[in-house]
Amino acid sequence: MKELSLHILDIVQNSIKAGAKNIEIIINESTADNLMTIEINDNGSGMSKEFLKKVKDPFVTTRTTRKMGMGISLFEAAAVQCGGGLDIESELGVGTKVKASFELMSIDRAPLGDMAETMMTIISGSPEPEYLYRHTKDGKVFELDTVQLKEILGDVPLDMPEVLSWITGYIKEGLAELNI
Ligand SMILES: Nc1ncnc2c1ncn2[C@@H]1O[C@H](COP(=O)(O)OP(=O)(O)OP(=O)(O)O)[C@@H](O)[C@H]1O
Ligand SMILES: [Mg+2]
Repeated sequence: MKELSLHILDIVQNSIKAGAKNIEIIINESTADNLMTIEINDNGSGMSKEFLKKVKDPFVTTRTTRKMGMGISLFEAAAVQCGGGLDIESELGVGTKVKASFELMSIDRAPLGDMAETMMTIISGSPEPEYLYRHTKDGKVFELDTVQLKEILGDVPLDMPEVLSWITGYIKEGLAELNI
């Protein structure tokens, strides 16, 4: 079973390819509502209404190296498999919002996986966009905002190894406080 963090990595890659300057990764876990939601929002190129209608179909892609676009359709399948679903809103020239929902306690729900490593992989691979990662669990919130981080770091680049390992540790500790 694929970890949900690997789907997040895939969906964020779409936002990066779409030239987004700002990418938000918002995860909500509510034990009371038995609900987990994962949202990836970007201000990239967006998609036309016609393209958006077809985008959950694995045969739809603008990539040229392989015939099938799998990222969105696999994420949707993972959500549907555990009593949830996937919504996409997109507007050309404005951006895209992808929101998946899952039954938190469903036995078919893949584990979230390692969000600290995932964010590190994303930021080190593509340090240009600004990232906001907000994770809420039963009312407690953890947040990593690269805009704020860059203000503190000044001229030190985000993709320096020391900075990346600090970010990984910061996320691990922050999530541990939320019992994640
Ligand atoms: N955030 C986004 N902004 C703009 N276009 C998007 C976005 N996400 C997806 N798309 C468009 O939808 C297509 C399908 O996306 P999907 O992730 O399913 O497949 P892919 O990225 O083409 O291939 P794969 O993810 O398997 O490498 C993409 O090729 C792209 O044209
Ligand atoms: Mg993709």
